[in-house]
Amino acid sequence: MSVLDRCLTIDDLKQVAKRRVPKQFFDYADSGAWTEQTYRANEEDFRHITLRQRVAVNLENRNLSTTMLGQTVAMPVAIAPVGSTGMQSPDGEIKAARAAEKAGIPFTLSTMAICSIEDIAENTSAPFWFQLYVMRDRPYIERLIDRAKAARCGALVLTMDLQILGQRHKDIRNGLLVPPKFTAKFLYEIARKPAWAMGMLGTKRRTFRNVHGHVSEATNLASLTEWTRTQFDLTLNWKDVGWIKDRFGGPVIIKGILDAEDAQLAVDAGADAIIVSNHGGRQLDGAPSSIRVLPEIVAAVGNRTEIFMDGGIRSGQDVIKALALGARSTFIGRAMNYGLGAGGEAGVTRALDIIRTEMDTTMALMGERDIRNIGRHSIYSNDLPPRRRP
Ligand code: FNR
Repeated sequence: MSVLDRCLTIDDLKQVAKRRVPKQFFDYADSGAWTEQTYRANEEDFRHITLRQRVAVNLENRNLSTTMLGQTVAMPVAIAPVGSTGMQSPDGEIKAARAAEKAGIPFTLSTMAICSIEDIAENTSAPFWFQLYVMRDRPYIERLIDRAKAARCGALVLTMDLQILGQRHKDIRNGLLVPPKFTAKFLYEIARKPAWAMGMLGTKRRTFRNVHGHVSEATNLASLTEWTRTQFDLTLNWKDVGWIKDRFGGPVIIKGILDAEDAQLAVDAGADAIIVSNHGGRQLDGAPSSIRVLPEIVAAVGNRTEIFMDGGIRSGQDVIKALALGARSTFIGRAMNYGLGAGGEAGVTRALDIIRTEMDTTMALMGERDIRNIGRHSIYSNDLPPRRRP
Protein backbone atom coordinates (compact mmCIF):
# COMPACT_ATOMS: atom_id res chain seq x y z
CA MET A 1 0.00 0.00 0.00
CA SER A 2 1.43 3.39 -0.97
CA VAL A 3 1.49 6.36 1.36
CA LEU A 4 -1.35 7.96 -0.64
CA ASP A 5 -3.45 4.77 -0.48
CA ARG A 6 -3.13 4.87 3.29
CA CYS A 7 -4.60 8.39 3.31
CA LEU A 8 -8.31 7.97 3.96
CA THR A 9 -9.16 11.55 4.82
CA ILE A 10 -8.05 15.04 3.76
CA ASP A 11 -6.48 15.36 7.20
CA ASP A 12 -4.30 12.29 6.47
CA LEU A 13 -3.09 14.05 3.30
CA LYS A 14 -2.42 17.18 5.35
CA GLN A 15 -0.14 15.23 7.73
CA VAL A 16 1.85 13.79 4.78
CA ALA A 17 2.07 17.25 3.16
CA LYS A 18 3.43 18.63 6.42
CA ARG A 19 6.34 16.17 6.22
CA ARG A 20 7.07 16.89 2.55
CA VAL A 21 6.60 20.63 2.05
CA PRO A 22 9.02 23.22 3.53
CA LYS A 23 7.51 24.75 6.65
CA GLN A 24 7.01 28.28 5.30
CA PHE A 25 4.92 27.00 2.38
CA PHE A 26 2.98 24.44 4.42
CA ASP A 27 2.20 27.16 6.97
CA TYR A 28 1.19 29.56 4.18
CA ALA A 29 -1.66 27.20 3.31
CA ASP A 30 -2.47 26.14 6.86
CA SER A 31 -3.14 29.60 8.17
CA GLY A 32 -5.81 32.22 8.55
CA ALA A 33 -5.75 35.88 9.48
CA TRP A 34 -4.96 37.06 13.02
CA THR A 35 -6.49 34.71 15.63
CA GLU A 36 -7.66 32.29 12.90
CA GLN A 37 -11.14 32.34 14.45
CA THR A 38 -12.87 32.50 11.06
CA TYR A 39 -10.51 29.90 9.58
CA ARG A 40 -11.51 27.51 12.39
CA ALA A 41 -15.22 28.41 12.20
CA ASN A 42 -15.28 27.49 8.51
CA GLU A 43 -14.47 23.89 9.44
CA GLU A 44 -16.24 23.68 12.79
CA ASP A 45 -19.63 25.03 11.73
CA PHE A 46 -20.11 22.12 9.32
CA ARG A 47 -20.18 19.84 12.38
CA HIS A 48 -23.36 21.51 13.64
CA ILE A 49 -25.37 20.32 10.66
CA THR A 50 -27.06 16.95 11.07
CA LEU A 51 -27.87 14.77 8.10
CA ARG A 52 -31.17 13.00 7.67
CA GLN A 53 -30.92 9.22 7.30
CA ARG A 54 -33.44 7.47 5.05
CA VAL A 55 -33.64 3.74 4.29
CA ALA A 56 -35.25 1.25 1.92
CA VAL A 57 -34.75 3.41 -1.14
CA ASN A 58 -33.47 1.94 -4.42
CA LEU A 59 -29.84 3.09 -4.59
CA GLU A 60 -28.90 1.79 -8.02
CA ASN A 61 -27.55 4.14 -10.71
CA ARG A 62 -26.52 7.00 -8.48
CA ASN A 63 -25.55 10.36 -10.00
CA LEU A 64 -23.07 12.92 -8.64
CA SER A 65 -22.91 15.02 -11.76
CA THR A 66 -24.43 18.50 -12.04
CA THR A 67 -23.79 21.76 -13.90
CA MET A 68 -21.95 24.98 -13.07
CA LEU A 69 -22.75 27.89 -15.41
CA GLY A 70 -24.19 25.40 -17.88
CA GLN A 71 -20.99 23.31 -17.87
CA THR A 72 -21.39 19.67 -16.88
CA VAL A 73 -19.20 18.76 -13.91
CA ALA A 74 -18.64 15.23 -12.62
CA MET A 75 -19.40 16.33 -9.05
CA PRO A 76 -20.33 19.62 -7.37
CA VAL A 77 -16.73 20.52 -6.59
CA ALA A 78 -14.28 22.87 -8.34
CA ILE A 79 -10.67 23.73 -7.53
CA ALA A 80 -10.47 27.19 -5.92
CA PRO A 81 -7.78 29.67 -6.95
CA VAL A 82 -4.83 29.26 -4.60
CA GLY A 83 -1.80 31.54 -4.86
CA SER A 84 1.69 30.02 -4.97
CA THR A 85 0.35 26.50 -5.48
CA GLY A 86 3.55 25.83 -7.41
CA MET A 87 5.46 26.19 -4.14
CA GLN A 88 3.60 23.25 -2.55
CA SER A 89 4.90 21.01 -5.30
CA PRO A 90 6.98 21.90 -8.39
CA ASP A 91 4.70 22.93 -11.30
CA GLY A 92 1.85 22.52 -8.81
CA GLU A 93 -0.82 24.35 -10.79
CA ILE A 94 -0.23 22.16 -13.86
CA LYS A 95 -0.48 19.04 -11.68
CA ALA A 96 -3.69 20.24 -10.00
CA ALA A 97 -5.22 21.27 -13.34
CA ARG A 98 -4.46 17.83 -14.80
CA ALA A 99 -6.00 16.08 -11.79
CA ALA A 100 -9.10 18.29 -12.11
CA GLU A 101 -9.37 17.53 -15.82
CA LYS A 102 -9.19 13.79 -15.15
CA ALA A 103 -11.83 14.12 -12.44
CA GLY A 104 -14.09 16.14 -14.75
CA ILE A 105 -14.26 19.25 -12.57
CA PRO A 106 -13.22 22.90 -13.17
CA PHE A 107 -9.77 24.13 -12.19
CA THR A 108 -9.32 27.83 -11.33
CA LEU A 109 -5.89 29.41 -11.79
CA SER A 110 -4.98 32.27 -9.45
CA THR A 111 -3.52 35.56 -10.67
CA MET A 112 -0.81 34.90 -8.06
CA ALA A 113 -0.04 31.41 -9.33
CA ILE A 114 3.47 30.19 -10.03
CA CYS A 115 2.51 28.63 -13.39
CA SER A 116 1.13 31.06 -15.95
CA ILE A 117 -2.13 31.05 -17.88
CA GLU A 118 -0.15 29.88 -20.91
CA ASP A 119 1.56 27.09 -18.90
CA ILE A 120 -1.85 25.66 -17.98
CA ALA A 121 -3.24 26.05 -21.51
CA GLU A 122 -0.23 24.21 -22.97
CA ASN A 123 -0.36 21.36 -20.48
CA THR A 124 -4.10 20.61 -20.28
CA SER A 125 -6.90 20.23 -22.78
CA ALA A 126 -10.04 21.03 -20.77
CA PRO A 127 -10.97 24.73 -20.49
CA PHE A 128 -9.99 26.11 -17.09
CA TRP A 129 -11.17 29.19 -15.19
CA PHE A 130 -9.03 32.19 -14.34
CA GLN A 131 -9.18 34.18 -11.11
CA LEU A 132 -8.54 37.90 -11.39
CA TYR A 133 -7.12 40.22 -8.75
CA VAL A 134 -7.67 43.77 -9.91
CA MET A 135 -4.40 45.70 -9.72
CA ARG A 136 -3.88 49.45 -10.03
CA ASP A 137 -1.95 48.94 -13.26
CA ARG A 138 -5.06 48.76 -15.48
CA PRO A 139 -3.18 48.22 -18.79
CA TYR A 140 -1.62 45.13 -17.18
CA ILE A 141 -5.07 43.93 -16.04
CA GLU A 142 -6.45 44.43 -19.55
CA ARG A 143 -3.60 42.36 -20.99
CA LEU A 144 -4.19 39.72 -18.32
CA ILE A 145 -7.89 39.46 -19.21
CA ASP A 146 -6.93 39.24 -22.89
CA ARG A 147 -4.50 36.42 -22.09
CA ALA A 148 -7.25 34.53 -20.23
CA LYS A 149 -9.49 35.04 -23.24
CA ALA A 150 -6.79 33.87 -25.66
CA ALA A 151 -6.31 30.74 -23.51
CA ARG A 152 -10.07 30.14 -23.86
CA CYS A 153 -10.73 30.27 -20.12
CA GLY A 154 -14.35 29.29 -19.56
CA ALA A 155 -15.03 31.82 -16.80
CA LEU A 156 -13.38 34.68 -14.97
CA VAL A 157 -13.48 34.49 -11.18
CA LEU A 158 -13.30 38.06 -9.92
CA THR A 159 -12.09 38.18 -6.32
CA MET A 160 -13.53 41.18 -4.45
CA ASP A 161 -12.34 40.51 -0.88
CA LEU A 162 -8.66 41.36 -1.19
CA GLN A 163 -8.18 45.07 -1.75
CA ILE A 164 -5.94 44.91 1.29
CA LEU A 165 -4.22 41.84 2.68
CA GLY A 166 -5.40 40.25 5.93
CA GLN A 167 -2.55 39.83 8.39
CA ARG A 168 -1.35 36.24 8.65
CA HIS A 169 1.01 35.86 11.56
CA LYS A 170 2.66 32.62 10.46
CA ASP A 171 3.78 34.16 7.16
CA ILE A 172 5.28 37.16 8.93
CA ARG A 173 7.07 34.99 11.47
CA ASN A 174 8.38 32.65 8.76
CA GLY A 175 9.55 35.57 6.59
CA LEU A 176 7.63 34.06 3.67
CA LEU A 177 9.00 34.98 0.24
CA VAL A 178 8.33 33.63 -3.25
CA PRO A 179 10.72 32.43 -4.53
CA PRO A 180 12.31 31.74 -1.13
CA LYS A 181 15.47 33.41 0.08
CA PHE A 182 18.31 30.97 0.68
CA THR A 183 18.85 31.66 4.36
CA ALA A 184 20.59 29.12 6.62
CA LYS A 185 17.17 28.30 8.12
CA PHE A 186 15.65 27.61 4.70
CA LEU A 187 18.65 25.51 3.58
CA TYR A 188 18.34 23.39 6.74
CA GLU A 189 14.61 23.05 6.04
CA ILE A 190 15.00 21.86 2.43
CA ALA A 191 17.80 19.48 3.36
CA ARG A 192 15.03 17.60 5.18
CA LYS A 193 12.68 17.83 2.14
CA PRO A 194 14.99 16.56 -0.63
CA ALA A 195 12.22 15.49 -3.04
CA TRP A 196 10.71 18.98 -2.96
CA ALA A 197 14.14 20.59 -3.44
CA MET A 198 15.10 18.32 -6.37
CA GLY A 199 11.75 18.97 -8.03
CA MET A 200 12.18 22.72 -7.67
CA LEU A 201 15.67 22.56 -9.16
CA GLY A 202 14.19 20.66 -12.09
CA THR A 203 11.60 23.31 -13.05
CA LYS A 204 11.91 26.82 -14.38
CA ARG A 205 8.60 27.80 -12.75
CA ARG A 206 9.58 29.40 -9.45
CA THR A 207 8.06 32.85 -9.50
CA PHE A 208 4.70 34.53 -10.30
CA ARG A 209 4.63 33.84 -14.02
CA ASN A 210 1.36 35.68 -14.69
CA VAL A 211 3.22 38.83 -13.67
CA HIS A 212 6.92 38.20 -14.26
CA GLY A 213 7.87 39.22 -17.79
CA HIS A 214 4.51 40.97 -18.30
CA VAL A 215 5.13 44.14 -16.31
CA SER A 216 8.04 46.40 -17.23
CA GLU A 217 8.61 47.56 -13.64
CA ALA A 218 8.89 43.99 -12.32
CA THR A 219 12.01 42.63 -13.94
CA ASN A 220 13.75 41.03 -10.98
CA LEU A 221 12.67 39.47 -7.73
CA ALA A 222 12.97 42.62 -5.63
CA SER A 223 10.98 44.78 -8.06
CA LEU A 224 8.39 42.03 -8.58
CA THR A 225 7.82 41.75 -4.81
CA GLU A 226 7.55 45.54 -4.47
CA TRP A 227 5.21 45.82 -7.49
CA THR A 228 2.90 43.12 -6.11
CA ARG A 229 2.89 44.65 -2.64
CA THR A 230 1.75 48.03 -3.89
CA GLN A 231 -0.60 46.96 -6.65
CA PHE A 232 -3.81 45.67 -5.05
CA ASP A 233 -6.41 48.28 -5.95
CA LEU A 234 -7.92 50.08 -2.96
CA THR A 235 -10.51 51.75 -5.20
CA LEU A 236 -12.02 48.53 -6.58
CA ASN A 237 -15.84 48.85 -6.66
CA TRP A 238 -18.99 47.44 -8.24
CA LYS A 239 -18.66 49.68 -11.32
CA ASP A 240 -15.46 47.83 -12.24
CA VAL A 241 -17.44 44.64 -12.83
CA GLY A 242 -18.94 46.14 -16.02
CA TRP A 243 -15.73 46.86 -17.92
CA ILE A 244 -14.12 43.62 -16.76
CA LYS A 245 -17.14 41.66 -17.98
CA ASP A 246 -17.17 43.51 -21.32
CA ARG A 247 -13.48 42.96 -21.88
CA PHE A 248 -13.62 39.24 -21.01
CA GLY A 249 -16.82 38.56 -22.89
CA GLY A 250 -17.60 35.33 -20.99
CA PRO A 251 -19.20 34.51 -17.63
CA VAL A 252 -17.90 36.37 -14.58
CA ILE A 253 -18.13 34.76 -11.14
CA ILE A 254 -17.80 37.16 -8.20
CA LYS A 255 -15.85 35.66 -5.30
CA GLY A 256 -15.71 36.85 -1.71
CA ILE A 257 -19.38 37.50 -0.96
CA LEU A 258 -20.30 37.05 2.70
CA ASP A 259 -23.27 39.36 3.09
CA ALA A 260 -26.76 39.29 1.57
CA GLU A 261 -26.60 42.99 0.65
CA ASP A 262 -23.30 42.51 -1.17
CA ALA A 263 -24.83 39.50 -2.93
CA GLN A 264 -27.60 41.77 -4.26
CA LEU A 265 -25.05 44.36 -5.38
CA ALA A 266 -22.91 41.72 -7.08
CA VAL A 267 -25.88 40.43 -9.04
CA ASP A 268 -26.97 43.99 -9.90
CA ALA A 269 -23.42 44.62 -11.15
CA GLY A 270 -23.75 41.71 -13.55
CA ALA A 271 -22.34 38.63 -11.78
CA ASP A 272 -23.18 35.42 -13.62
CA ALA A 273 -22.58 33.54 -10.37
CA ILE A 274 -21.22 34.29 -6.91
CA ILE A 275 -18.96 32.42 -4.53
CA VAL A 276 -19.94 32.78 -0.88
CA SER A 277 -16.47 32.96 0.62
CA ASN A 278 -14.34 34.54 3.33
CA HIS A 279 -11.14 33.63 1.48
CA GLY A 280 -10.69 30.55 3.67
CA GLY A 281 -10.54 32.70 6.81
CA ARG A 282 -7.49 34.56 5.48
CA GLN A 283 -8.97 38.06 5.26
CA LEU A 284 -11.46 39.42 7.84
CA ASP A 285 -10.83 37.45 11.00
CA GLY A 286 -14.01 37.53 13.11
CA ALA A 287 -16.29 37.24 10.07
CA PRO A 288 -18.79 34.36 10.12
CA SER A 289 -18.09 31.05 8.44
CA SER A 290 -19.23 30.74 4.84
CA ILE A 291 -21.65 27.91 5.66
CA ARG A 292 -23.37 30.01 8.32
CA VAL A 293 -24.21 32.91 5.98
CA LEU A 294 -24.99 30.73 2.97
CA PRO A 295 -28.75 30.35 3.70
CA GLU A 296 -29.42 34.11 3.97
CA ILE A 297 -27.54 34.74 0.73
CA VAL A 298 -29.49 31.99 -0.99
CA ALA A 299 -32.70 33.58 0.31
CA ALA A 300 -31.61 36.97 -1.06
CA VAL A 301 -30.38 36.09 -4.56
CA GLY A 302 -30.90 32.36 -5.09
CA ASN A 303 -33.53 32.97 -7.75
CA ARG A 304 -31.31 35.43 -9.66
CA THR A 305 -27.93 33.71 -9.90
CA GLU A 306 -25.98 30.51 -9.33
CA ILE A 307 -24.51 30.35 -5.85
CA PHE A 308 -21.30 28.48 -5.07
CA MET A 309 -19.51 28.42 -1.72
CA ASP A 310 -16.09 27.67 -0.31
CA GLY A 311 -14.42 27.60 3.08
CA GLY A 312 -13.78 24.62 5.32
CA ILE A 313 -14.69 21.83 2.92
CA ARG A 314 -12.68 18.80 3.97
CA SER A 315 -15.01 15.95 3.02
CA GLY A 316 -17.80 14.85 0.75
CA GLN A 317 -20.16 15.28 3.69
CA ASP A 318 -19.27 18.97 3.85
CA VAL A 319 -20.14 19.32 0.17
CA ILE A 320 -23.53 17.70 0.79
CA LYS A 321 -24.22 20.03 3.71
CA ALA A 322 -23.43 23.06 1.52
CA LEU A 323 -25.80 21.77 -1.16
CA ALA A 324 -28.49 21.15 1.45
CA LEU A 325 -28.23 24.81 2.47
CA GLY A 326 -28.66 25.98 -1.11
CA ALA A 327 -25.25 26.02 -2.84
CA ARG A 328 -25.26 24.73 -6.37
CA SER A 329 -21.63 23.67 -6.07
CA THR A 330 -18.52 24.14 -3.95
CA PHE A 331 -14.84 25.03 -4.29
CA ILE A 332 -11.94 23.48 -2.42
CA GLY A 333 -8.69 25.28 -1.61
CA ARG A 334 -6.72 23.59 1.13
CA ALA A 335 -8.06 20.09 0.43
CA MET A 336 -6.44 20.37 -3.02
CA ASN A 337 -3.29 21.96 -1.59
CA TYR A 338 -2.77 19.21 0.98
CA GLY A 339 -3.20 16.53 -1.68
CA LEU A 340 -0.70 18.31 -3.90
CA GLY A 341 1.86 18.66 -1.11
CA ALA A 342 1.41 15.01 -0.14
CA GLY A 343 1.77 13.52 -3.62
CA GLY A 344 1.71 15.95 -6.54
CA GLU A 345 -0.88 15.22 -9.22
CA ALA A 346 -1.62 11.77 -7.72
CA GLY A 347 -2.16 13.46 -4.37
CA VAL A 348 -4.75 15.86 -5.80
CA THR A 349 -6.42 12.90 -7.50
CA ARG A 350 -6.43 11.13 -4.13
CA ALA A 351 -8.03 14.18 -2.46
CA LEU A 352 -10.75 14.28 -5.09
CA ASP A 353 -11.33 10.51 -4.79
CA ILE A 354 -11.69 10.83 -1.01
CA ILE A 355 -14.27 13.60 -1.39
CA ARG A 356 -16.14 11.82 -4.19
CA THR A 357 -16.38 8.48 -2.35
CA GLU A 358 -17.55 10.12 0.82
CA MET A 359 -20.13 12.18 -1.07
CA ASP A 360 -21.48 9.13 -2.86
CA THR A 361 -21.69 6.95 0.26
CA THR A 362 -23.25 9.74 2.32
CA MET A 363 -25.80 10.54 -0.36
CA ALA A 364 -26.78 6.87 -0.58
CA LEU A 365 -27.13 6.52 3.20
CA MET A 366 -29.40 9.57 3.11
CA GLY A 367 -31.61 7.70 0.67
CA GLU A 368 -30.83 9.90 -2.35
CA ARG A 369 -29.74 8.68 -5.75
CA ASP A 370 -29.11 12.03 -7.39
CA ILE A 371 -26.95 14.81 -5.95
CA ARG A 372 -29.22 17.38 -7.58
CA ASN A 373 -32.01 16.31 -5.22
CA ILE A 374 -30.11 17.28 -2.07
CA GLY A 375 -31.92 20.19 -0.45
CA ARG A 376 -33.25 21.61 2.76
CA HIS A 377 -35.20 18.38 3.38
CA SER A 378 -31.87 16.51 3.59
CA ILE A 379 -30.84 18.03 6.96
CA TYR A 380 -32.43 18.94 10.28
CA SER A 381 -33.60 22.51 10.12
CA ASN A 382 -32.42 24.34 13.23
CA ASP A 383 -28.84 23.15 13.58
CA LEU A 384 -27.08 26.29 12.41
CA PRO A 385 -29.30 29.25 13.23
CA PRO A 386 -28.39 32.43 11.32
CA ARG A 387 -26.67 35.20 13.22
CA ARG A 388 -28.78 38.35 13.49
CA ARG A 389 -27.34 41.10 11.37
CA PRO A 390 -27.47 44.76 12.47
C1 FNR B 1 -6.29 31.13 -1.14
N1 FNR B 1 -7.39 31.77 -1.70
C2 FNR B 1 -7.24 32.58 -2.80
N2 FNR B 1 -8.33 33.14 -3.40
C3 FNR B 1 -8.20 33.90 -4.52
O1 FNR B 1 -9.20 34.39 -5.02
N3 FNR B 1 -6.96 34.10 -5.06
C4 FNR B 1 -5.82 33.59 -4.51
O2 FNR B 1 -4.73 33.76 -5.03
C5 FNR B 1 -5.95 32.83 -3.32
N4 FNR B 1 -4.86 32.31 -2.69
C6 FNR B 1 -5.00 31.42 -1.64
C7 FNR B 1 -3.89 30.81 -1.09
C8 FNR B 1 -4.05 29.86 -0.10
C9 FNR B 1 -2.86 29.15 0.46
C10 FNR B 1 -5.34 29.53 0.37
C11 FNR B 1 -5.54 28.48 1.41
C12 FNR B 1 -6.43 30.18 -0.15
C13 FNR B 1 -8.74 31.47 -1.19
C14 FNR B 1 -9.31 30.25 -1.90
O3 FNR B 1 -9.62 30.54 -3.23
C15 FNR B 1 -10.58 29.76 -1.22
O4 FNR B 1 -11.46 30.82 -1.04
C16 FNR B 1 -10.29 29.09 0.14
O5 FNR B 1 -9.12 28.32 0.07
C17 FNR B 1 -11.47 28.22 0.54
O6 FNR B 1 -11.28 27.68 1.79
P1 FNR B 1 -10.63 26.23 2.07
O7 FNR B 1 -11.21 25.26 1.07
O8 FNR B 1 -9.15 26.39 1.88
O9 FNR B 1 -11.00 25.96 3.47
